[in-house]
Amino acid sequence: MSRKFYITTPIYYVNARPHIGHAYTTITCDTIARRQRMLGADTFFLTGTDEHGQKIERAAQAAGKTPQQYADEISAQFRKLWQRMGISNDDFIRTTEERHKKRLQELFRRIRDNGYIYKGTYTGQYCVSDELYVDGAQPGDPCPTCGRITETVHEENYFFKLSAFQDKLLELYANPEFIRPETRRNEVIAFVRSGLRDLSISRSTFSWGVPVPDDPKHVIYVWLDALANYITAIGYGSTHAGAQDAFKKYWPADVQMIGKEIVRFHCVYWPAFLMAAGLPVPKAIVAHGWLLFEESKMSKSRGNIVRTETILDVLGADALRYFLLREVVFGQDGSFSFDALVQRYNSDLANGLGNLASRTLTMINRYFKGEVPYPSHAASKTAADDAIAETARRTIREFGTLFDQFQFSRALETAWGLVAAVDKYIVENEPWSLGEKNDDESRARLATVLYTSAEALRIATALAHPVMPEATAKIWTQMGLGDIKKLALADLAWGQLPLGTRLGDVYPVFPRADKSAIERMQQMEDQQRVPAAEEKPAAEVKLVAEIPAPIAAQVAPPATATPAVSDKITIDDFAKIELRVGVVKVAERVPKADKLLRLEIDIGTEVRQVLAGIAEAYAPETLIGRKVVIVANLAPRKLRGLESNGMIVAASLEGGKPVLAGFLEDVPVGARLK
Ligand code: MSP
Repeated sequence: MSRKFYITTPIYYVNARPHIGHAYTTITCDTIARRQRMLGADTFFLTGTDEHGQKIERAAQAAGKTPQQYADEISAQFRKLWQRMGISNDDFIRTTEERHKKRLQELFRRIRDNGYIYKGTYTGQYCVSDELYVDGAQPGDPCPTCGRITETVHEENYFFKLSAFQDKLLELYANPEFIRPETRRNEVIAFVRSGLRDLSISRSTFSWGVPVPDDPKHVIYVWLDALANYITAIGYGSTHAGAQDAFKKYWPADVQMIGKEIVRFHCVYWPAFLMAAGLPVPKAIVAHGWLLFEESKMSKSRGNIVRTETILDVLGADALRYFLLREVVFGQDGSFSFDALVQRYNSDLANGLGNLASRTLTMINRYFKGEVPYPSHAASKTAADDAIAETARRTIREFGTLFDQFQFSRALETAWGLVAAVDKYIVENEPWSLGEKNDDESRARLATVLYTSAEALRIATALAHPVMPEATAKIWTQMGLGDIKKLALADLAWGQLPLGTRLGDVYPVFPRADKSAIERMQQMEDQQRVPAAEEKPAAEVKLVAEIPAPIAAQVAPPATATPAVSDKITIDDFAKIELRVGVVKVAERVPKADKLLRLEIDIGTEVRQVLAGIAEAYAPETLIGRKVVIVANLAPRKLRGLESNGMIVAASLEGGKPVLAGFLEDVPVGARLK
């Protein structure tokens, strides 16, 4: 029996317009699924749409539609887009489907019957945009994830005993394969170690959701609803034998791919829900970074999205797939620009793989009447031929290893190393000059050079197939090799190109793109652009570039001079203050100092220890991964025996409560504020 492989994307919110940030998650999963199929695994690849919750209900209302109409339209847009891109998902689940709703209720019952659900009252802050309960936040506080002002919720709710799973979760994280990459794993461990509170898992102030079994006044919390899709789609909770078998076969998932902003839901809540239901947890949760455009996370609310269709119209799906996997270092944020896309396309695809295919195959057509030549007697072989064969063997090995570690960019770099080596080999061996000569020796040498080039082309094409399914299938047919889907990747080895194979029609697979391609894409996007959503903060806050008095007293050095004449400063005065964006890596309380937190803040060039008097306003675990502004050139000083090297910038609310300065757009760590 073949090995099974189950991979999922998150399900996409239907309040979003699909953009290439969404396409990034889907493309990555599609590439992995395709490679697994080529390796012979019985693969199941799931994606879908997340359609319930207050956020969707409000978006539908604003558009003058019922939530169902609204969800139908946008879900269809996602589905159509994935079809157009040739995404090979085996199922597409919608959380408004009956099969999902029934099976979700079954999951709820199971968790409740196992004693992990109880009724209580929730009073606290909620971020509708992230559908997130913000522990410890006060009215008017921003959401730690998106910065939008949270809403106060006071409801009778069902609670999930998340606190009962702290130790079990920590045991789970001991397996380094469970959360990847390592940075995300560390964040999650720190978060869970700092303590878990029970989680409200129902809402009763709106109705767009799946009713709680036996208590339909409540709808199930949208994240429990959404996460359950990973098991409901493959048959969990179904009464049909076929569906039950599918669930037994595919669960637990092998890879659950997510973006870094939804790590907590997937790495903390999801395994806890599963354990509470007595189900196995997934084998790996893998988080990627964000696709940035114009320096910030691409998203509808920022109005900086790039639609996938534009790129499909101008350069095709394979160009986008290759670009995203090659250019973005997996796990980190990566910038998108049309210039970079076209540059990569031309250098790696038009001039790289495409050119290698057309020059090799055209010469086989010209000199060997379109049949793969026989590399004849040993005398026609040189060390250069063996070196290509060796490079190809090494590439097959390294590509597989890197790919399986999710290092797509490096895997592709390796495969393109082979393409570059063959290009060089062709230039040095000048098959065109050999083709002009008619003696046997030149002819034998020409056969060897073209065989070697074609075999290396075959290997690079086979490896690249999961990344660029369409273009590589074309090259495969041009080489006369038939249907690339039939290739058993596990057996790929040097020397398998059948001698005498008749080539198919040869034509350029990646026509060169010129500057007008960039202009066309830019114009198409400009015409489509929707302005950023307007958002008003719920409460007025006064932003000051200093920590409020009681806190400043603890963290800032004493003032050395007071402006004597005017309270205005010049731009030169301001330029003396080095304000930088940093990201909190470590946050912990300082023993015996109620107000003080010890932070380690990465400011791009170094990691600084900063002591900040914000412990009454912020729980340390909520700060990890958060971007903050720090005064970077403040003289260091000691507090409670610890050196504070910089000052964190906060607004002062009435009563002296600090609110950390932040950005609605994503900003790079180390950026200077001027
Ligand atoms: N509905 C939730 C997921 C529920 S899963 C049980 C959700 N939806 S989403 O539409 O906002 O995001 C879906 C996926 O798209 C996430 O993996 C997210 O990281 C990804 N992206 C959305 N914008 C992105 C970028 N700009 N860059 C990279 N990926 C991002 O979260």
